[in-house]
Amino acid sequence: MKEKKSNPRQTGSFSRRGFLKGAGITAAGTVIASSGVLSLHGQAPDTNKTLGPDTITISMKVNGKMRKLSIEPRTTLADALRIKLQLTGTKVGCDRGSCSACTVWIDDLPTLSCMTLAVEVGNREVTTIEGIAKNGKLHPVQEAFIEHDASQCGFCTPGMIMSTAHLLDENSNPTLDDIKSATRGNFCRCGTHPKVFVATLDAAGKM
Ligand code: FES
Ligand code: FES
Repeated sequence: MKEKKSNPRQTGSFSRRGFLKGAGITAAGTVIASSGVLSLHGQAPDTNKTLGPDTITISMKVNGKMRKLSIEPRTTLADALRIKLQLTGTKVGCDRGSCSACTVWIDDLPTLSCMTLAVEVGNREVTTIEGIAKNGKLHPVQEAFIEHDASQCGFCTPGMIMSTAHLLDENSNPTLDDIKSATRGNFCRCGTHPKVFVATLDAAGKM
């Protein structure tokens, strides 16, 4: 079992809300203040450098590959993945940090991509639902979701899988309560939670 990480669902060390409030989005552009939190192309940005409103180019490692993309500095990671990189498996439900449909991993930690700016990712690696199958074989959690029919409309499903697959990565023998806790932020309007729990327990048994 891996050592448990302290923050099971991060919204970015530098949240979109905090960014908008603290750094300042102005008509002239986005001012990156002196925290040095952001890293573009692996380098800390110049302090008080104004980015935007024109597009900027950033590099980001996604599902094991370096990708270069031109974005407005205000672009969320969810929009960068879905619109710029066409990785539409990540869903945007609420776009405000309430439903977890947009969950991806950043350096293996579940993260709300709607609450994370793409420029905030820096040198860290992003993993999306498209990236957890290996060598053409679905992740055991994906297989178990299919086997147990744990998806109806499917809108919450990628986020559910990113949450439960992360749990099994950290804890290969979870209890039902562990699974409930891991998915407590994942809303499902179709009521699939009971099947999600069964599927996750089944996947754990097979991993
Ligand atoms: S879309 Fe990100 S939390 Fe709902
Ligand atoms: S399967 Fe429809 S919202 Fe969960």
